[in-house]
Amino acid sequence: MKLFLDTANLQEIKEAMQWGVIDGVTTNPTLAAREGGDFRELLAEICRIVPGSVSAEVIATETEGMVREARELASVAPQVAVKIPVTPDGIRAVKILAAEGIKCNVTLIFSFNQALLAAKAGACYVSPFVGRLDDIGHDGMALVADISRAFSHYGFSCEVIAASIRHPRHVIEAAMAGSHIATVPFSVLKQMFNHPLTDLGIERFLSDWQKAKGNTK
Ligand code: G3P
Repeated sequence: MKLFLDTANLQEIKEAMQWGVIDGVTTNPTLAAREGGDFRELLAEICRIVPGSVSAEVIATETEGMVREARELASVAPQVAVKIPVTPDGIRAVKILAAEGIKCNVTLIFSFNQALLAAKAGACYVSPFVGRLDDIGHDGMALVADISRAFSHYGFSCEVIAASIRHPRHVIEAAMAGSHIATVPFSVLKQMFNHPLTDLGIERFLSDWQKAKGNTK
């Protein structure tokens, strides 16, 4: 399973990239707005740091505007995938953009049928929002599992990105559900390192080492 970082923060991206475990980055208008400045410049900088896929979302809501914005975003770097919301206008835009070879990540997916429409239109990625479904009492990961199973059964090349990941357990469940990718906030990525037995183990090894060194003196 690939791991993407769900952030537009350059510090977070640089730090995570040093660990060598990040395959791509996803952003959205909320994350981009948090960073301020010119988004095109920010996107170009992210693409200089990250060789893998980098998702950037359109703001327009009608097909023509989405297509215009998507072409503009895709021209920033070859690894840019344009995030398009799963509306009738969005799906029309995906069909046009896919024919031009522009990679689309269809976002705000909350149902299997939305994912199916996106894949049929030629999307490279679909992003089901796990946490937001859980928030309203639904089972977000069951949706990821359904989409992953059907895409694999029919041999769709469209990849599933488990998005709106809220905690490390979601990452495990995304992998078990067969998701191609999980996009994780930096806070969750850091939590993935943690286990109290690792801390305890290091502490014990160090103290045993010190004791042994002390004995030989
Ligand atoms: O980028 C899309 C998704 O990951 C957003 O997550 O936490 O705002 O529901 P969240």
